[in-house]
Amino acid sequence: MAQETIAILGGTGDLGTGLAIRWSKAGHKIVIGSRTLEKAQTAVENLQKISPDTPAEAMENKDAAAAGDIVVLTVPADHQLSTLDYVREHLTGKILIDVTVPLVPPKVGTVQLPPEGSAGKRAQDLLGDDVMVVTAFQNIAAHLLQEDVVIECDVLVAGNKKAARDKVVELVEQAGMTGWHAGPIENSAAAEALTSILIQINRKHDISHSGIKIVGQADH
Ligand SMILES: NC(=O)c1ccc[n+]([C@@H]2O[C@H](COP(=O)([O-])OP(=O)(O)OC[C@H]3O[C@@H](n4cnc5c(N)ncnc54)[C@H](OP(=O)(O)O)[C@@H]3O)[C@@H](O)[C@H]2O)c1
Repeated sequence: MAQETIAILGGTGDLGTGLAIRWSKAGHKIVIGSRTLEKAQTAVENLQKISPDTPAEAMENKDAAAAGDIVVLTVPADHQLSTLDYVREHLTGKILIDVTVPLVPPKVGTVQLPPEGSAGKRAQDLLGDDVMVVTAFQNIAAHLLQEDVVIECDVLVAGNKKAARDKVVELVEQAGMTGWHAGPIENSAAAEALTSILIQINRKHDISHSGIKIVGQADH
């Protein structure tokens, strides 16, 4: 199977760096997108020290969105919609993986979802049905993704098109975790809200990186 080019907008940041490392190690060509080409170039240099045999390229966000077969948005929640609006002409027909958690400081341990219902839903509303918005990774710490460790937490994958979710479940597995179909984009609310609960669990039980694991028995 041909490996896709994965473009990570805001890929210079914490979560984007973690995903870039994991997918680069899995053999995908990575495009690091940034508002500044120089910043993206530095991120690519760092990535290539970790994963020297996999191609990686630095681009400004709009060029990155155009270059990606799959585009991933990893910018702070306050800049989610402005970044998507800026690159939207290059997203038509593509899967857009959105990791946004709409935490509202200072009460990040309290669920405060946006009026649209979730960050995922507002992205889908903005971009329309020609873009397959799929949300994932909201409950995974960037720090863990960046390290060479086994991540025991599972990933909830929400989006309106099953084929697009299938693809993202596969990409979650290539990043070293288990992804689960979590239903339509409205259900992204549950994964986004869960992050505040995990923050509370970390604080109150004095642990790091709490996460979820789905359990069940095979029906066959
Ligand atoms: N950190 C985590 O553990 C974690 C876990 C799960 C989900 N998330 C979600 O992942 C997303 C990114 O989080 P992060 O911690 O990686 O964020 P971050 O490191 O603070 O920022 C990521 C990148 O966003 C870009 N950015 C900053 N301000 C911007 C603006 N005004 N407009 C457009 N781009 C801007 C920057 O890239 P350039 O300066 O290169 O453009 C920056 O490197 C958030 O939505 C967060 O909710 C984070």
